[in-house]
Amino acid sequence: MNISAFTTEASPHAAHIDRIFYGLSTASVLIAILVFGLVFGFSFRFYRGSKAKRGPLPHFLQNEFEIGWTVATLFLFLFFFWWAATAQLYALTPPKNALQIHVVAKQWMWKVEQPSGVREINELHAPTGEPVVLVMTSEDVIHSLFLPALRIKQDVLPDRYTYLWFTADKPGVYMLECAEFCGTGHSRMTGRLVIMKPPDYARWNSAQPQSSGLAQQGEALFRSLGCSGCHAQASSIHAPDLNGVFNSQVHLSDGRTVIADEAYIRDSILDPRRDVVAGFQPIMPSFKGQLSESQLVRLIAYVKSLTLKPEARQ
Ligand code: CUA
Repeated sequence: MNISAFTTEASPHAAHIDRIFYGLSTASVLIAILVFGLVFGFSFRFYRGSKAKRGPLPHFLQNEFEIGWTVATLFLFLFFFWWAATAQLYALTPPKNALQIHVVAKQWMWKVEQPSGVREINELHAPTGEPVVLVMTSEDVIHSLFLPALRIKQDVLPDRYTYLWFTADKPGVYMLECAEFCGTGHSRMTGRLVIMKPPDYARWNSAQPQSSGLAQQGEALFRSLGCSGCHAQASSIHAPDLNGVFNSQVHLSDGRTVIADEAYIRDSILDPRRDVVAGFQPIMPSFKGQLSESQLVRLIAYVKSLTLKPEARQ
């Protein structure tokens, strides 16, 4: 493994994390030097039989000094806690306008679906200068996507979506790793993160074997699977209209309200009887076991595209 992967900073967030790391290390080393200096200094000065004065401490070195020292270190480390916690909290919430790239993990490879419909294996291309959110799921066991140059890592779980986001600012080729032991092929579950300037990224996208966009492929699936038979507005069967449903509040028949995010749409396809929309009959068949994660990604991209305006991103 190449150590430079852990020192290259390919995003402002990476630089931020490093500042916290260096700050914490410096403070720890300085305090360790001080404590060990005092331990050795006192051992030398007050060894048994030395002539050092051993009376009570001068007054100012009693309570005040001890309280001051304790409170100062307490606040110093509370400051580090605050500094690190705000950086982590910030990293938890992807911006709404981020470019969405889907990542599907399986034993033992990373499959990536670009918004343009381009598919990659063990490679992840992304542009600089704009937020990118990775919407991730696994086809089998727990994996973990680790992008050391961006100082971000997130578990990737079956039957669930997890997210990672970043805004890269330095074009280059970086490591992409699985950081969760996921079977005998775990150590080979690596790849490349390729960060490119936006024009290069656009050129790269159009140079790939071109397919239609994710949402368009989702629309084709939506028809071939027969979803459009019931979810079309003119349909005689009563099924919820999907226009504008993504990210909206949905009232369920049992009185709960949920936000129709990726996970909700995924669950509604695989387990439609669980969260039935208020006013509808639980008549939709389950598609569990019939769809691959890539097909689900396409269907969800299509449902999302029904909410976002045409000029917005899918
Ligand atoms: Cu996938 Cu380790």
